[in-house]
Amino acid sequence: MTKPKIGIILSSTRETRFADRPAKWVQDIANVRGDADYEIVDLREYPLPFFDAVGSPRFVPLTDEAQLRFARKIGEFDGYIFVTAEYNHTVPGVLSNALTYIFNETDRKPAAFVGYGAVGGSRAVEHLRALVVELSMVPTRFAVHINMEPLLGMLRGGKDFADYDYLAPTVTTMLDELAWYTRTLKAGRERELAKAA
Ligand SMILES: Cc1cc2nc3c(=O)[nH]c(=O)nc-3n(C[C@H](O)[C@H](O)[C@H](O)COP(=O)(O)O)c2cc1C
Repeated sequence: MTKPKIGIILSSTRETRFADRPAKWVQDIANVRGDADYEIVDLREYPLPFFDAVGSPRFVPLTDEAQLRFARKIGEFDGYIFVTAEYNHTVPGVLSNALTYIFNETDRKPAAFVGYGAVGGSRAVEHLRALVVELSMVPTRFAVHINMEPLLGMLRGGKDFADYDYLAPTVTTMLDELAWYTRTLKAGRERELAKAA
């Protein structure tokens, strides 16, 4: 089996976003493991219109190059870590919109979650778990939740993740579970492809 690739997907694009900090923090912890290649996917680099394809990509293949470029990038990965903000108790619209352009690319691949917000982004994470099931992803159990105190400490108090050392072990737990599902599902997909060949 080739080394798995994991996409770390950001959910927000606004100029003063916090998103870059948790994404980089998770990527740095993950990179030390050597068990997969972890790549950040920044939706700023994939500007997409409000969903305007002629139909669901489940039934109507995309034709627009910008939309296809995003779908191809997502399809490169064997698993995903969604680093999500919580806007109005749910998934930021920019991420939800981007995911409407996806269908087969995420088939039988695991999705793990890092949430941040007043209650650790937990409402957004729960909504995202339900959303990714429709894209045939397998949502995992152990998420990372960065709640109000560390979020405000970092946004306004000049603090960093090192000041909240109880958070890093939750990343390891999340990554351990994600690694198991990534290997197992990748092996399953490859077995089926080999049978079909
Ligand atoms: C439009 C908007 C709605 C928000 N709604 C929530 C919310 O429902 N729950 C929450 O915990 N934080 C909420 N927040 C605060 C965010 O947690 C905080 O601004 C965070 O930094 C947003 O992520 P970002 O910086 O990556 O955009 C909201 C922020 C914005 C801009």
